Amino acid sequence: MRIDILTVVPEVLESPLNTSILGRAQQKGKAEIHVHNLREYAEGKYRQVDDYPFGGGAGMVMMIEPVVKCIEKLQSERQYDELIYMCPDGERFNQKTANSLSLKENLIILCGHYKGIDERIREHFITKEISIGDYVLTGGELAAAVVSDAIIRLIPGVISDEESALSDSFQDDLLAPPEYTRPAEFRGWKVPDILLSGHAKNIEDWRHDQAVKRTEERRPDLLDSE
Ligand code: ADE
Repeated sequence: MRIDILTVVPEVLESPLNTSILGRAQQKGKAEIHVHNLREYAEGKYRQVDDYPFGGGAGMVMMIEPVVKCIEKLQSERQYDELIYMCPDGERFNQKTANSLSLKENLIILCGHYKGIDERIREHFITKEISIGDYVLTGGELAAAVVSDAIIRLIPGVISDEESALSDSFQDDLLAPPEYTRPAEFRGWKVPDILLSGHAKNIEDWRHDQAVKRTEERRPDLLDSE
């Protein structure tokens, strides 16, 4: 999979995309992430990427030319499955969307900044608009990092034990059961006996029961979503 991220502040993406599992996924050749600085596609001495909104009002709007120049350069090099715009008024991101995007070959993710982007980019280029929650961030970069992380960890071979991505919270619409590691007792707080029993079938049943219980208590809406 290849993801091209378009931004006016590439520095924000540096660490989240190149550290830990996402960094290793790229080193192993499982994913390629390319960050493009939109300023490099802007004209003039100041390489302006934003301008005042027509009709007045506070804040600046990302200009159409640098964004379109960058998109069209990428599109001339390969075909993209989706051109995603990160914005608070997009469709709410969830595991189902992450699963479906993880099967794509090439994605472009455009990060909004300032007051947003010129609406004509949304009308003529964007194929999918994603929000990571009902709150407003200073820009789409952290949201793009969240989406990239959720997608890339699902690619086979990225997480060493593939089981572990399949048993995540939200796969099967269930939250994950509680987990424990050594020591088996700390300050008198004991790990449930069943996990130490070595009885695989009983442990699997216990984990499923715990997942259902946790989901009923914390996110009953997931159980109604059939
Ligand atoms: N840009 C600003 N806020 C955002 C959000 N909640 N989700 C995605 N992109 C955003």
